[in-house]
Amino acid sequence: MAEHDDDDDYLSVGDERTIYTASDALVCKYSASSLGYYNDKYLHSLFAKSIVKANTNSMVGAPSINPLRKPPIINRGYYGRVKCIDVVLSKFLSTTSLNTSAASIPSIPTDIADKLITDIPDSASAYRQIVSLGGGFDTLSLRIIAENNPGLHIYEVDFEEVINKKAVALLSESTCRHLLLGNHGNNTTPATSPGIKDNRQILTKILHDCTITNGYNLGPNLTLFGSDLRNNTNDIINKLTSIGFNPSLPTLILTECVLVYIEKAVTEQLINTFASSLPNVAWVTYDMVNPTDSFGKTMCRNLRDAGFNIPGFLEYPTIESQIQRFQSNKFEKVNTMSMLAAYQRLLTSDDKMRIARIEHLDEIEEFELIMSHYTLTTAVKGSVLSGLV
Ligand SMILES: C[S@@+](CC[C@H](N)C(=O)[O-])C[C@H]1O[C@@H](n2cnc3c(N)ncnc32)[C@H](O)[C@@H]1O
Repeated sequence: MAEHDDDDDYLSVGDERTIYTASDALVCKYSASSLGYYNDKYLHSLFAKSIVKANTNSMVGAPSINPLRKPPIINRGYYGRVKCIDVVLSKFLSTTSLNTSAASIPSIPTDIADKLITDIPDSASAYRQIVSLGGGFDTLSLRIIAENNPGLHIYEVDFEEVINKKAVALLSESTCRHLLLGNHGNNTTPATSPGIKDNRQILTKILHDCTITNGYNLGPNLTLFGSDLRNNTNDIINKLTSIGFNPSLPTLILTECVLVYIEKAVTEQLINTFASSLPNVAWVTYDMVNPTDSFGKTMCRNLRDAGFNIPGFLEYPTIESQIQRFQSNKFEKVNTMSMLAAYQRLLTSDDKMRIARIEHLDEIEEFELIMSHYTLTTAVKGSVLSGLV
């Protein structure tokens, strides 16, 4: 397990429930992906390592229902969430790609491109970064790394319990391990060793080699960092910098269904800290909204009855309040839309027709109601990323 520093010694029942949402999101994405809504072989690899099987047995669905297959309305909603976030991330990746700028000058000499990279202070090989706060068991990082986006380093932050499980799952599974560690993963593959005992020993060795303080350095593109986001608000940049993060590089922060579990004061501090320390930063966030209308009240009641703490849902009740939290904390441009609007605008008609053929959806009105209780917000600070909004 990761070398321990200071926080995360104690998890309340509410925190345990929050942590459980990482598994729940994984199951829902797995359901949508296995039905063909989108392709994510890493999701399947990670799932195969049964991160969530224990949880699904005890917490999701009735025994007679397949807990790994979600209803069409959930599959479609999760696909919309994944796809819309992908659209923003793709824009970030193309905006910060040296290849893209080189494309307009096809003959850009390699030494100049190299110089562009090496001139950036303290960056070993990265010239852009993604920080996924509350990354859970999401496989987005793996999909992006597999697309071969050069010069990219991704930092995922979550409770230590989550990143410990994720590191073990990623390194135990050959597809993920080879993607992240390349030859190192190949040479020490547990799959090639003779017995389970040896496999365990080899996995322990790889885990040990990847361990850093409070986390895991999983190759040149991915670092997992264990931290309760509420404990490190002012110090988070220092903590990340100590594991290789470079505040001077263009950075995208992702919070996909995370800020709802965090109190307003903490969220504002987090936003302010990143905006104050990074000259070029974009923030993409997916959140719940409208807790006070009748559907929103039902959502709140159900979540609370299930033991979830959702202060961010209640303290940012409107689209305006979600814009405000970035505008009042040094972000220069902010765009928020309901997920219903995002789904309608960011998915192509062909894609919408394709997924309608995967599963028939009777409850269109209910789907639209649910989607209007979630938002997608993009905020930017600095000239490099201003085109994202
Ligand atoms: C609904 S899950 C979403 C996971 C992932 N972003 C996704 O969309 O698949 C919420 C995640 O936020 C994490 N989280 C919530 N509050 C946190 C905190 N205070 N510190 C660290 N992680 C937190 C949870 O552990 C969980 O992994």
